[in-house]
Amino acid sequence: MRGKAEVRREEPEKEPTNPKKPTAGETEVKTATVKTEVISSPKAGLSSATIVDFVTHSATQTQKAGTVLGRLLQLGDIILLEGDLGVGKTTFTKGVGQGLLVEGYINSPTFTLVNEYQGRLPLYHLDCYRLESGREALDFGLEEYLYGEGVIIIEWPERIAEVLPTEVLRVKLGYVNDTKRTIRLEPMGTRYVALTAEFKKAAFGA
Ligand SMILES: Nc1ncnc2c1ncn2[C@@H]1O[C@H](COP(=O)(O)OP(=O)(O)O)[C@@H](O)[C@H]1O
Ligand SMILES: [Mg+2]
Repeated sequence: MRGKAEVRREEPEKEPTNPKKPTAGETEVKTATVKTEVISSPKAGLSSATIVDFVTHSATQTQKAGTVLGRLLQLGDIILLEGDLGVGKTTFTKGVGQGLLVEGYINSPTFTLVNEYQGRLPLYHLDCYRLESGREALDFGLEEYLYGEGVIIIEWPERIAEVLPTEVLRVKLGYVNDTKRTIRLEPMGTRYVALTAEFKKAAFGA
């Protein structure tokens, strides 16, 4: 079917008047999904079933979406975070770190290029903003991280696109307004199609 995207909107629920603080282990993501719409939109080469689109209404919700993803990650997973400066890539990564049970605070590695964290699996957090080519990333040791002992999450992958593998999970963030962002999970390859399906189930129960 061509043309109009298939759109499923969930009515935003009311903010609880007396919100219960989630206890450890309990999925706080429900809070994140409360005001979040899931929108499936067919795109060339990808069926509507494989892409997950949603909207977050706060940095906390974006972080929680990252946490849901982080819980599902496996050794060798490669996550690309695309989107403009200030859109929420590092915020999302903080959540991924929580989902991977990383202790300590995740900061932007803009000046260090890569930060490494120890969690359930090692997490390599790269920010390629300052790189001009994939060659620079290779010289830096990119492959050690891509094919290392952990999972890798890359901000500004556009900068080094030519040296990245084709099988990845692309996470595209878009700016709507001060507090609202669009997030799209676009899986490339079977591992990431499965991961995206698991994410959709964990985050939205569908
Ligand atoms: N819905 C939202 N999702 C993510 N960040 C948000 C949202 N609303 C506001 N923000 C704010 O936008 C900024 C995102 O910054 P950051 O995560 O460092 O972006 P990036 O890494 O993409 O440059 C933070 O100050 C955050 O509080
Ligand atoms: Mg950042």
